[in-house]
Amino acid sequence: MQPAHVLSVGASDLGDTDLPGRDLFSAALAEAFADLPDPASVVDALYVGNQSERYENQIMYGTLAAEWAGLRNVPAERVEACAAAGALALKNAVRDVRAGVHDAVLACGIEKMTAGGTEGATNALSAAFERALEQRSGITAPSLYAMLARRYCHEFDADETDLARIAVKNHRNAAANPRAMFQREVDVDTVLDSDYVAPPLKLFDCAPVTDGAAAVLVANDEVADELGIDDRVTATGSSVTVNNLAVAERDLTYVEGADVAVTNAYDEAGIDPSDVDIAEVHDAFTICEALLAEAAGFAPQGHGVETVRDPSERSDGWTDVQINTSGGLKARGHPIGATGLLQAVEAHEQLTGRAGDRQVDGAETALLINEGGLADAATAAHVLTTQS
Ligand code: COA
Repeated sequence: MQPAHVLSVGASDLGDTDLPGRDLFSAALAEAFADLPDPASVVDALYVGNQSERYENQIMYGTLAAEWAGLRNVPAERVEACAAAGALALKNAVRDVRAGVHDAVLACGIEKMTAGGTEGATNALSAAFERALEQRSGITAPSLYAMLARRYCHEFDADETDLARIAVKNHRNAAANPRAMFQREVDVDTVLDSDYVAPPLKLFDCAPVTDGAAAVLVANDEVADELGIDDRVTATGSSVTVNNLAVAERDLTYVEGADVAVTNAYDEAGIDPSDVDIAEVHDAFTICEALLAEAAGFAPQGHGVETVRDPSERSDGWTDVQINTSGGLKARGHPIGATGLLQAVEAHEQLTGRAGDRQVDGAETALLINEGGLADAATAAHVLTTQS
């Protein structure tokens, strides 16, 4: 098995844009290849994470992205697992390069989510939930995650203010991230005074509806040498796990599938939670950050909400990890099929010392957790490190 490196990354602007998916993708690709030769002379294959054809009435994003990138006669596929689609594209790229199937693979994600407004996005996202019982009862993403939040606050010493602090922390991080959708700080009162979307979750507990695209070039040593790229970020762990789809079949306060995916990724990388310097975790709703901090082994169960505290002030059993330095899905934005790759963009910037005002000193190892469907219905976990 040969090492698979993340060599270059790019992203479009994130937010409520006038741009179609094609232009979002082109912006991400242009950034990723700004200092490289033409994609057609580098890329052997392409995977596109994309959630829904409803937004642009379009499928065939594999063919389209290849065409838009100027690639002819290469393997290209759209992959989907709702919001985990981006990390599935990354996983496939890493797998192909490691196996020697391809030398260089483009993992990208595209979502034109605002096309149908909040209602259109809510309807499109509901397709990710179990149909026979749960869709029929009118569930939505916020209402399902509200059940997790309510149960968590019931079982553990946590309340709406603890969740609000997670939003405050991620907005603060996003304020230092020029890529973020919301580059502004908010205080706890702003979060607590915002309208309920699905109690106990309020507007500021939710990730927004976001347009965006991301592009990540994954390649072997030979390609890295040819391109003259020395600061290689290596995917040392890569794992995907699914749990049951129906929420009725799952534990509401323990995301077992994420635990398994992360443990597998740690084992492959030969590390444990205390080795992770930064983590981008799937905070589609504030409660997710607490649950995933616990599943990743950063925090004891019931203490995940302490993610907002300085490492020196966290409970025993917490590691020193910094979580969602990008601002997370909450404030950087959540263009569904691109989100897993935006996590890789943040990790690449942090691990190569390009994260500007939000740089974590000495960051060498990153964990990415990207989820699709409710919580761990599908989880992709990646360990990226500067030490191959
Ligand atoms: N956090 C903070 N502010 C937000 C926001 C969010 N998540 N979503 C929207 N806003 C702001 C907008 O910027 C806008 O501000 P402005 O009036 O100053 O311009 C205002 O709130 C209204 O925006 P709008 O888009 O009309 O909000 P909405 O009420 O239609 O939608 C949510 C808000 C939370 C319901 C919507 O963003 C949502 O459904 N989020 C969850 C998406 C989701 O489920 N993702 C998948 C998870 S698996």
